[in-house]
Amino acid sequence: MTQTLLYTSSTRTSLCPIDEMADGQGAEDSGRTAVVFSLTNEVGCLVKALRLFQEKHVNLKHIESRPSRRVVNEVEIFADCNCGQKEFKELLEHLKDHINIISFNTPAHVWSTEADCVPPDGDDVPWFPMKISELDQCSHRVLMYGSELDADHPGFKDEVYRQRRKYFVEVAMNYKFGQPIPRIEYTPEEIRTWGVVFRELTQLYPTHACREYLKNLPLLSKHCGYREDNIPQLEDVSLFLRERSGFTVRPVAGYLSPRDFLAGLAYRVFNCTQYVRHSTDPLYTPEPDTCHELLGHVPLLADPKFAQFSQEIGLASLGASDEDVQKLATCYFFTIEFGLCKQEGQLRAYGAGLLSSIGELQHALSDQACVKMFDPKTTCNQECLITTFQEVYFVSESFEEAKQKMREFAKTIKRPFSVYYNPYTQSIDLLKDTRSIENVVQDLRSDLTTICDALGKMNTYMGI
Ligand SMILES: [Fe+2]
Repeated sequence: MTQTLLYTSSTRTSLCPIDEMADGQGAEDSGRTAVVFSLTNEVGCLVKALRLFQEKHVNLKHIESRPSRRVVNEVEIFADCNCGQKEFKELLEHLKDHINIISFNTPAHVWSTEADCVPPDGDDVPWFPMKISELDQCSHRVLMYGSELDADHPGFKDEVYRQRRKYFVEVAMNYKFGQPIPRIEYTPEEIRTWGVVFRELTQLYPTHACREYLKNLPLLSKHCGYREDNIPQLEDVSLFLRERSGFTVRPVAGYLSPRDFLAGLAYRVFNCTQYVRHSTDPLYTPEPDTCHELLGHVPLLADPKFAQFSQEIGLASLGASDEDVQKLATCYFFTIEFGLCKQEGQLRAYGAGLLSSIGELQHALSDQACVKMFDPKTTCNQECLITTFQEVYFVSESFEEAKQKMREFAKTIKRPFSVYYNPYTQSIDLLKDTRSIENVVQDLRSDLTTICDALGKMNTYMGI
């Protein structure tokens, strides 16, 4: 299958998020009819966007704009609408076809606060989330909705499939940090498709997957319902991962930019699609789907060392230049998506793009594949291929080794500060002056005291 860079998409089920939104559930009063969207900053862009409101006969109560912190040459607009929930729902449907909606039901004061949540280093530093709840902004900023299928997509002419995909988009766009992930009532057809993929791939894993994968897959069967006749629910998977490695997953409505996707990794959050590939060809998908996420990514995300490695790439991306983010995205691509490792003298796969593709999994471990040592300095320049097998794969001795290399590489990224992930507050501390560094040192000192105490006890009671 072809595996694009980073990212993914969404969900379906008995829930109807837009209707729920129309009832105002979970939304603050002041933001019930507000929508935030982005535009390319060019002459007349706002006029064109406002015409969409006019076409739906919707007046505006309040409007604000600001330069986008996410994408150069884009502007973000906050528009509070003077209309009922039914009209607002119709308006959203209309807008979705023409402009990039970042969020809706966002109260004005929250939007204003978001503008303040910016690293205080001026306009040179691209915006990035400073706390885990701000990932909502990253995950809602999809580049392409999962329901917009290309003409060569197997489901392009299948109206039922397209409607289904729209449903998944709505669920993901309505999802906010802290909420339980909506459970999906998968159709018999979707379960059959998943079943084919599950059956075929699990036959290959014993001889092709790395040991960490083989250790975690049975645990996922036991705790999250990984079975041929059952598609696991993201909510169950997320709870499982949290206990194993501190990772969580969240639904996303379509492709994210590398910057937004990598920002999630910095917080140990993985954006996951929830839709299933088209049933006509279960062993092929032109885009990541839930089979790819659940079988490719999730078993490795449960491994603490792999989780650390993934977070390292994410942290390096925060506030980095577009050029450096692209390099990190390429490193991500050749490790987390297509990485190989050496175990007991043999090559094994740990990349999700390989572990969810029968053809490429066999190819990557065959004599036909070109394999080089993973080194971020050179790997970051390798071309990522989307529609064919990769020309080269990169191998690491261990996740620990890969993490150390990424750490060294991250030092070459130009930023006027270092970032420190605070696991207690699930936020980012910027280390840029003695005071902020001193705070981290205090924490480390406390940890070292605990370690010294433990060593002392070992010395006393065990004679070591
Ligand atoms: Fe992926």
